[in-house]
Amino acid sequence: MSLLCLAPILTQHEIAPRHFLLTFRAPAMAKVAQPGQFVHVRCGDTLDPLLRRPLSLHGIDRTKGTLTLLYRVVGKGTARLSRMQPGEALDVIGPLGRGFSLSLPFGQVVNEAVVVGGGIGVAPLLPLIEALLNQGSQVTVLLGARSADGLLGLKAFEQTGARVEIATDDGSLGVKGNVADLLKNWLTRGTVLPAGSGCVYACGPAPMLRTIWQMCAAHQIPLQVSLEERMGCGVGACLACVCRVTRTDEGKNKEISDDNNVKSSLALAADSDWKYARVCVEGPVFWGEEVLLDE
Ligand SMILES: Cc1cc2nc3c(=O)[nH]c(=O)nc-3n(C[C@H](O)[C@H](O)[C@H](O)COP(=O)(O)OP(=O)(O)OC[C@H]3O[C@@H](n4cnc5c(N)ncnc54)[C@H](O)[C@@H]3O)c2cc1C
Ligand code: FES
Repeated sequence: MSLLCLAPILTQHEIAPRHFLLTFRAPAMAKVAQPGQFVHVRCGDTLDPLLRRPLSLHGIDRTKGTLTLLYRVVGKGTARLSRMQPGEALDVIGPLGRGFSLSLPFGQVVNEAVVVGGGIGVAPLLPLIEALLNQGSQVTVLLGARSADGLLGLKAFEQTGARVEIATDDGSLGVKGNVADLLKNWLTRGTVLPAGSGCVYACGPAPMLRTIWQMCAAHQIPLQVSLEERMGCGVGACLACVCRVTRTDEGKNKEISDDNNVKSSLALAADSDWKYARVCVEGPVFWGEEVLLDE
């Protein structure tokens, strides 16, 4: 169930250069929101930018009836949003999309989780970690950024009680390298996720997700990834946000002739063993085994 509301902004702080933490009051939304879902926000009250902007839920507080966003200013929309003040009304639709699952595809509860976040990709991971810990899962968090000052909300992650490991490209905090290196170390030092109840969760830049996706496939470890695509409507109508997923239903046709070169990619999708999925409805969270990140 998604809702449209004008939600009063309670607080807005710049926590690092160009990075903001914004909390708004929306009890009905907070009540149904799940980790990994997002809201579609109107950034200001003018016609430019016209389209809403998708932002993940970084904090879900059902008791207080509040939701928190962690966002980076990258363009017109997020710059306008950063100028909004407490007391102003945020025009927001949500919660939207499919969030993270705390169970594996056949219903087993995830007993041990490795949660991997890079850069602003850490945004949807805090409520996920809290939910995993609440259900009694053991959680290791691997966080990465270019340097120490890019590790967003590190204190909040440490305060969850999960084990937190850090990598920075310049070595200014934690291990020198990236989070994929951390995951690789974690796997190669013999730490094995329990078969049938372990899962890796990841959100971050596309190259990082691709590496983790390949690593988990090689080790046959269940993976859930949260994807970011440019969005239009946010509710499944415009097809602006599609990604490729494997086709598991009927209608596969692997004998694609050279003539397919002239087919549109949509037609090709209709004939091949993959198809398009809408990140705003079927995602933003996908299972590693269903999504195709190899291009
Ligand atoms: C499901 C989802 C959840 C998201 N959660 C967060 C979040 O929690 N925090 C956060 O900071 N950002 C998040 N994003 C990205 C955020 O939506 C964009 O940064 C924002 O829409 C940019 O709007 P703008 O008007 O400021 O920039 P624009 O003027 O629209 O674009 C500025 C620049 O950013 C690039 N850009 C814009 N959107 C994206 C995108 N989705 N992916 C890659 N590049 C993009 C553009 O190509 C352009 O170069 C999320 C995106 C999705 C799809
Ligand atoms: S943004 Fe319109 S279909 Fe996803």
